[in-house]
Amino acid sequence: MDYKEYTAKKISELCGMEFEEAVRLTEIPPEQKLGDLAFPCFSLAKTLRKAPQLIAKELSEKFSEDKYIQKAEAVGGYLNFFYNRAEFTKDVIENILKNGENYGKSDFGGEKTVLVEYSSPNIAKPFHIGHLFTTALGHSLARIYEFLGYNVKRLNHLGDWGTQFGKLICAYKLWGDDEAIEKDAIGELLKIYVKFHEEAEKNPELEVTAREHFKRLEDGEKEETELWQKFRDLSLKEFKRVYDMLGVDFDSYNGESFYSDKMPEVVEILREKNLLSESDGAQVVDLSELNIPPCIILKSDGATIYATRDIAAALYRHRTYDFYKNIYVVGTAQALHFQQIFAVMKKAGWEWSDGCQHVNFGLVKFPDKKLSTRHGDVVFLEDVLNESVSKTLEIITENTPLMENKEEVAKKVGIGAVLYTFLKNSREKDIVFSWDSMLDFDGESAPYVQYSYARGRSILRRAGDRNKNVDFSVVTSDDEYALVSMLAGFSDAVMLAAEKNEPFYVNRYVTNLARQFNKFYVSCPILKDGIPEEVKNTRLELVDAVCTVIKSALYLLGIETVESM
Ligand code: ARG
Repeated sequence: MDYKEYTAKKISELCGMEFEEAVRLTEIPPEQKLGDLAFPCFSLAKTLRKAPQLIAKELSEKFSEDKYIQKAEAVGGYLNFFYNRAEFTKDVIENILKNGENYGKSDFGGEKTVLVEYSSPNIAKPFHIGHLFTTALGHSLARIYEFLGYNVKRLNHLGDWGTQFGKLICAYKLWGDDEAIEKDAIGELLKIYVKFHEEAEKNPELEVTAREHFKRLEDGEKEETELWQKFRDLSLKEFKRVYDMLGVDFDSYNGESFYSDKMPEVVEILREKNLLSESDGAQVVDLSELNIPPCIILKSDGATIYATRDIAAALYRHRTYDFYKNIYVVGTAQALHFQQIFAVMKKAGWEWSDGCQHVNFGLVKFPDKKLSTRHGDVVFLEDVLNESVSKTLEIITENTPLMENKEEVAKKVGIGAVLYTFLKNSREKDIVFSWDSMLDFDGESAPYVQYSYARGRSILRRAGDRNKNVDFSVVTSDDEYALVSMLAGFSDAVMLAAEKNEPFYVNRYVTNLARQFNKFYVSCPILKDGIPEEVKNTRLELVDAVCTVIKSALYLLGIETVESM
């Protein structure tokens, strides 16, 4: 039953307002003591030529109690509605327990296709901590859209093309050590790449050779292509190890190289539409009307660049998926790049480009340089995840020395802790990396929420078989009811997260839910002696519902639950 619609219907009957308008106006009051829904009477004041306070008062007098709404109270210019707690509780809990992990799902998206492009690391370069931001956000957004009934495709736009591969091939041929590469591919490739730059300072000839290698790679020459393929395969193998740890996967790994043969068409289209002009020998699209620098399409040597590949990729995605939305989860540093390519597409008359959106995010900062990594200055994501797992294992071993599956729990909690940190605030905010807050079992952290879940599950286990003697009218205290209200708000939080492309709404939701659950746990004993049977049983139903929703919400964040910790 939809209580909001039900209440809106009542309002429209009471004051003659259109039902849709009443739905639009009703809101959730800021405090529980102000009821479940509030109807502001300010807009009626004009038409009725009365003070809103008076309207609220008159409406409250006209209102009569029914099965679902217990009372309507006038406070200031608002009419506050109070649901019948027992009825509402029954409705919410039964709905959750009947639907299980499907509770809160909807078909709002109507199977429209949403592309979520995320992660997109660069071949032969470190998969570093910055990539975790896009990986965590994108993984979560993909699940959120799916939950709302969209057809989601996960895309990894690998950075696997560009002149740097000429340098890498050159470096490999000079100093490549297959044995070392076998052990630590990216670390070693990075090492020879850095060495290339050092040596090229002294010997500029190397740059020429590198350019030749890239040219040969573009022309599909055997040796270069094989080497490039080898670097790509080795890198992908390392990336996939991290993806496995995070439970992340993709529908497509079509990276920049995939579009290298699709660019001539783009150049042709832009030329035909008279959008290209020359600037210092390069072909560019002028964007001065938007007050941004021109978008370079072809460099002076005729080579295409990052932007050209992105435009070709967008066109390909449009043709392949006919998307409703094409989301790029990429750092704020690339905001101008996306502004430029979106503007070029718009100028080309591609109306569908309105569905393209840059979902940006901030930086990761390290206040204490104490992060141990085997790679010196660069913070490899894999190292951070491993470190988090081992730190978690230490904490668990200290807290619960006898726990059986410590390693497994430490994995889920340690990785959850890292993910949570990246989804905890509005994405545009920078992250200050701190092990202490990340692994604070009592703070705003994944371990706190996971612990709350485990606590709930342990109560249910201890209770054993539940007899179904439940009575929702006995669990209507403020602490119980606050929990029920929050459970009812799950899908609103998910909707908001999708609307703003901000998983933190789900994160904040589940953290508050866990907090309220712990409050309830203290004030409402469940398995203690002397608790009446129906109170115990009904509270157990509530606990079960809370666990179900915590698990679903964490799932949307990419975080796993554990049964005990
Ligand atoms: N590979 C790039 C990087 O690591 C990110 C790619 C972003 N996606 C895109 N379509 N340009 O910085």
